[in-house]
Amino acid sequence: LVASLEQVEQTYIMVKPDGVQRGLVGEIISRFERKGFKLTGLKLFQCPKELAEEHYKDLKTKSFYSTLIDYITSGPVVWEGVGVVASARKLIGSTNPLQAEPGTIRGDLAVQTGRNVVHGSDSPENGKRETALWFKEGELCEWTPAQAPWLM
Ligand code: TYD
Repeated sequence: LVASLEQVEQTYIMVKPDGVQRGLVGEIISRFERKGFKLTGLKLFQCPKELAEEHYKDLKTKSFYSTLIDYITSGPVVWEGVGVVASARKLIGSTNPLQAEPGTIRGDLAVQTGRNVVHGSDSPENGKRETALWFKEGELCEWTPAQAPWLM
């Protein structure tokens, strides 16, 4: 069974500041590349506070909200592919790195929840919302593989 083009989703993956400062950008990007998802946007910039607040607006009432906002900067990446939202969440692993399985990004590379190195959208709707939040029009690249697209 092969998926159709309508099944292609978009997810917003962010390498968080600890991931950037620990030199894990390449490692994390590499896992998504090796899985076979399509990279359509990539940028590195200092995240303004307002943007972080809008991104995490659903968590506004949580006790960890202000420390989370302080912690977040940037290294945002957008990937697309069939089932990429759920698949990315699996590659990333549980929020708490202690519960994340070995083999996942957080299971292999992170120690604590407040420093869990990477973000991945939790639904296709949020994948679209977050992509639109972090990337302006014209900043994503639409490209078609030159050879047979085996993975989509
Ligand atoms: P959440 O959306 O619940 O997790 P995920 O990133 O896996 O989608 O929470 C967003 C981020 O907030 C999480 O990656 C790390 C931070 N956080 C804390 O600092 N403390 C906590 O107790 C929780 C649940 C999250």
